[in-house]
Amino acid sequence: MTNTAQPTALITGAGRGLGQALARALLAASWRVVVDARRAGHLAAALPGSVVVPGDVTDPAHQEALAAAVGGLGRLDLLVNNASDLGPSPLPKLADVPLAAARQVFETNVLAPLALTQRLLPLLRASRGAVLNVSSDAAVEPYAGWGAYGSSKAALDQLTAVLAAEEPGLAVYAVDPGDMRTEMHQAAFPGEDISDRPAPEAVVPALLRLITTRPPSGRVRAADFAGAPA
Ligand SMILES: NC(=O)c1ccc[n+]([C@@H]2O[C@H](COP(=O)([O-])OP(=O)(O)OC[C@H]3O[C@@H](n4cnc5c(N)ncnc54)[C@H](OP(=O)(O)O)[C@@H]3O)[C@@H](O)[C@H]2O)c1
Repeated sequence: MTNTAQPTALITGAGRGLGQALARALLAASWRVVVDARRAGHLAAALPGSVVVPGDVTDPAHQEALAAAVGGLGRLDLLVNNASDLGPSPLPKLADVPLAAARQVFETNVLAPLALTQRLLPLLRASRGAVLNVSSDAAVEPYAGWGAYGSSKAALDQLTAVLAAEEPGLAVYAVDPGDMRTEMHQAAFPGEDISDRPAPEAVVPALLRLITTRPPSGRVRAADFAGAPA
């Protein structure tokens, strides 16, 4: 039976990495969680109790399916736009990045979060909810090779800032999680030993603290919310 009093989150890209770690933590805290990934066959077992909607965030039919799944639950308190495309690995210079790859990076990292936000704003407004757009230090640092991904995250940051100005009833954050030992990070550093980077689970308490303390909307670093109880 639908319990509309229970806090509800949609987390994109929860097949592994940060998205899955955050989904697991919210489920443990008795949230209802809707998740997706393109490869989602393992997700019902990995995240028991979640609502799994397999698909690609750039696909309008999948965006509609996500909105329908959330609508069926009757409320939305938290939208986490976490699914992301790094682009080609090894990371090419801007001189060499294929435009089709750059276009796909922007579709995934900017336009899909915008589309999901548009579809879900009525429910987010009704709950005075939060939008958490997962950004990167590459949005503000001009790392060579990170041009497509970094500029897409910069666009996501600005989209976040404008949404915050337009929707004062919501909490709207662009969050830089910091380096994490994930598949995406390994793809960014092919062949390198990344075992010294923290696991994505290490970032989750900071995200929970951000959600629960609800500071003013803006761009934040997860590291600034680390170390205190969630
Ligand atoms: N790892 C880092 O060091 C780091 C640093 C700064 C920022 N970030 C950001 O943190 C977030 C999480 O990254 P991560 O390192 O946890 O990545 P990850 O381990 O590669 O996981 C990404 C997840 O997103 C899913 N995904 C990717 N594209 C998708 C699409 N088009 N539609 C639906 N799902 C999709 C993937 O599953 P499928 O492939 O099966 O779809 C996977 O479940 C991203 O926004 C990333 O940009 C990461």
